[in-house]
Amino acid sequence: EGNNKEARGALVVLEGLDRSGKSSQCSRLVSYLERQGLSAELWRFPDRTTDVGQMISAYLTNASQLDDHTIHLLFSANRWEKRSLMETKLKSGITLIVDRYSYSGVAFSSAKGLDIEWCKAPEIGLLAPDLVAYLDISPDKAAERGGYGDERYEKLEFQKKVAEHYKVLHDASWKVVDACQPIEDVEKQLQEIVLACVTKCQKGKSLSSLWS
Ligand code: TMP
Ligand code: MG
Repeated sequence: EGNNKEARGALVVLEGLDRSGKSSQCSRLVSYLERQGLSAELWRFPDRTTDVGQMISAYLTNASQLDDHTIHLLFSANRWEKRSLMETKLKSGITLIVDRYSYSGVAFSSAKGLDIEWCKAPEIGLLAPDLVAYLDISPDKAAERGGYGDERYEKLEFQKKVAEHYKVLHDASWKVVDACQPIEDVEKQLQEIVLACVTKCQKGKSLSSLWS
């Protein structure tokens, strides 16, 4: 079984509030996988390098104003424009470590009051992650870490709402990691979880689509 198929990479998503440590853990994970002799790339959404990404960036930095539905669809379009490249990379054996994905899309927009099913709909058909790791930290603790920037959503009151909406999205398959632990402990736990997922994908676990 699987002899004539090349081992694919894993689609690994890290989610969590702003200041939960996602970005540094994502880059640590990529270095770790490379040290194990595996191919891995660091990805992030929003991907601000595309035309759509620049519209998103302008919105987040308050350089532009957009209707809540409009920005939601732009975040989703930003994932759609990367979908086929993601699939190509995964099928060529590269593991993608992704800093935020559709769960951020739904949690942040539904926290503004948009209907959750409406928020999920444009994500249908995107690649389903093989693993969602949630870096768990309370909004108050995250705020204490300092370093909230000036971007639109980086405010304690709003982050509290986002935390509640992430809870609605959690399912049994998510790996929840306590993000208040020392950074090396978080790193160790993520390494184990991610390596197990990469191994499963190498052994032939098939790629599926959202929402599954
Ligand atoms: P970043 O700080 O990870 O670059 O993300 C920018 C902000 O965009 C962050 O506050 C989360 C938010 N966001 C959404 O509202 N919807 C999405 O689909 C994504 C990926 C991020
Ligand atoms: Mg940010």
